[in-house]
Formats: sequence, C-alpha cells, structure tokens
Amino acid sequence: MLSSRTAWDLAANALAARTDALRASGRPILDLAESNPTHAGLAWAPEELAAALADPRVASYDPAPQGLPAAREAVARYLASRDAVVDPERILLTASTSEAYALLFKLLCDPGDEVLVPAPSYPLLDLLADLEAVRLVRYPLRYDGSWHLDLAALEAAIGPRTRAVVVVSPANPTGAVLDADELAALDRLCAANDLALLGDEVFADTALRPCPSVAAGDREALAFHLSGLSKVCGLPQLKVGWIAAAGPAARVGPALARLEVVADAYLSVSGPAQLALPGLLARREGFLAPLRARLAANRAALAGVHGAAADVLASAGGWTAVLRIGETRDEEALCLDLLDEGVVVHPGFFYDFERPGHLVVSLLPPPPVFAEGIRRVIDRCGRADFASGSGR
Ligand SMILES: Cc1ncc(COP(=O)(O)O)c(C=O)c1O
Repeated sequence: MLSSRTAWDLAANALAARTDALRASGRPILDLAESNPTHAGLAWAPEELAAALADPRVASYDPAPQGLPAAREAVARYLASRDAVVDPERILLTASTSEAYALLFKLLCDPGDEVLVPAPSYPLLDLLADLEAVRLVRYPLRYDGSWHLDLAALEAAIGPRTRAVVVVSPANPTGAVLDADELAALDRLCAANDLALLGDEVFADTALRPCPSVAAGDREALAFHLSGLSKVCGLPQLKVGWIAAAGPAARVGPALARLEVVADAYLSVSGPAQLALPGLLARREGFLAPLRARLAANRAALAGVHGAAADVLASAGGWTAVLRIGETRDEEALCLDLLDEGVVVHPGFFYDFERPGHLVVSLLPPPPVFAEGIRRVIDRCGRADFASGSGR
C-alpha cells in the first residue's frame, strides 16, 4: 500500500539508538554532533527576533509564488555582498534549502533521472532524492592536503540520465571550497552536457578563503545558487531559504517560469517570515560574527591534534571538522565507546568517505565543551584497544 520511495528501514541503528538514549538520560554529555545554532549558545536575543517578526502586515494574506519582492530584493543585496549581482526576478523563496533541492529536482528530473553529488557529503541529500524518485550518483572529492574536485572523475560519472551536478561550497563535512577555476570548468562541463549546476552555498559566510558563488559572473550553464536563513542567520526555525538562478536568459527564463508554478502549488514560505527577511538579513552579522569567533576558537583547539591517534583534515570553511583516525579503527565501535564516556561524534560512514577511518565533529559547541570532547576523543583513539578494529 505504501510507496517504494518511502520504503526505508526505519529501525534505529545501534549508534542512533544509543545516542538518543544518552541524550534522554539527563547525564551531562559533550555533544560534538550539535548542529543547531539555537542550542549552542548562538541564538538571537528573543526580543530582537520578536521585534523583527512584529509587522502589522502579517494580518493580511498576499500570496506571491516567487516570494515577496522586498524579500527577494533583500536576498539580492545579500548576494551582491558576495560579488554575485542577481536580478531579484531571478530569485525565488523557499521554506528551506532542503525544500529548494526538492523544487529543483522536480523541475529538472523525471523519476529515475540522475543527479551527481559529491562524496564525501552529507546524508540529507539521499533522503531528498528518494522523495523525488531521483537517483544520486557520487563523484569523488580528493584530499591531498586540501580538497579538490576531480573533474575527470566527475565527467566519467555523467550518463544519459544525468540532469544536474550538485556542488556544496564550503562543503559539509569536509569544508572543501571550490575556487573560481574549478567553478568555471564545471560550468563549461555542465553547459556542454546540458546539465544544470546546483551550488549549495549555505556555509559561504564562514569560508576561510575566497568562495565564489555559482550565481556570480556569466555562467554558460543553467545554474542555481541555494541558501537560506538557517545557516546565513542561524535561524532554522524561520523556515526561509532561496534559489537564485544564473546563466543565459534562454535557459533561465523557462526554468523560472516552471519553478514559479511548482512554488505556487505549495506556497510554503510563511508570510511573516518573508516580511521579516530584509531586517533579519541586514542584521546577519549579529549572528555571523560570534559564529566565526566560535568556529575559530574550536579550530584552534584542533590545531594541536596531529599524531598517531588522530589528525585533522584541512578545511576551508563550514561548521564541521573531520578527524582522520586511521583505516584500521572501527568508526562505529569507537563512536559507541565514546558515547559511554558521554561524548557524541559522528562516524565518517554517515558521510560517504571513499575510505574508512574518519570522525566528523561539529564546530558549534561552546569552546570548553568542544575542547574537553576532543581531549576525550584523542585519549580514546590513543588507547591500544582501538588499534585493531575491523574498519568499515
Ligand atoms: C550543506 C547543507 N545544505 C543544506 C542544508 C539544509 O539547510 P536548511 O536548514 O536550509 O534546509 C544543510 C543542513 O545541515 C547543509 O549542511
């Protein structure tokens, strides 16, 4: 009776079940998987948020499938600050970046069509693709002291049913940032193969080196920048994201016309949130400045981590860090063991690393929590009983 696209195995795996039990136990924990800024001491002041949402116009319902013009203009100003000049008519609001993916998959793909996504990458993409009956095909990011696109491998992954390429820059969890040359090469490749280029840029404001937008410059391909208030302002609860289209008018025009119809079917972006968007975006540094300080403090705590027990992979931005613990250590056994010590971390296999032997930690926790959590991780990795796990 139920669809095959939702036929997931819903039994919680051992790690998820033990993590839930630990969180529910009330025991003090060092949660290095915390990705919610509002739970990490980075929340907006309640009165500031309440004031931003207090607009008398919230009493009226004036649906606009693309999003209210003033809100789209505010997104255009945000993009201009990132050197991407985008006409507000090429911007469409969504309820989140996740929903932006869903709308674009509907626009670009028939059931069974393929979208290329990076590996490693974050697990939500699989779920979003399942829900649109789209098949994800991985292309590798390569690490040689920093992360790079392997354009030849990406090109080899293109098949007759490929419709789009997703890039995440800075990436989750690696912090990989695409430079202008990589982006230009990818743009040409997409244009030549009639593929859309989707740039997930939710972490762009934390990039540690120049992080060009897919919406900047003259794109040859049909390109879409995706982002939202969840990461740009630390306000996932507002439920506002956006898509900004780039590329030749002949490609962008028809795509946006259809996208507007898709958006019109749901009208999912809340009116009060759209009205608040310009004011919230204008005050984003109130969130971003403390966020950057937090990320820097936690990165500094990682600076001393290099040795036999674990080392830290270089990252160019984002809210996460990757520890390399060696291929012979069993990631899951290590994570379970750390739970017993009150420390929550993610195993690398959640994120599709090509090789085993990684842990992923969030850089959001308060620095004392982060430093103590990392100390316990390194201590655990250093103990001999983990030197001979089976790996995954
Ligand atoms: C790279 C990336 N893109 C998109 C999202 C989802 O963002 P949103 O909350 O706007 O749906 C996440 C969430 O962690 C993410 O890591």
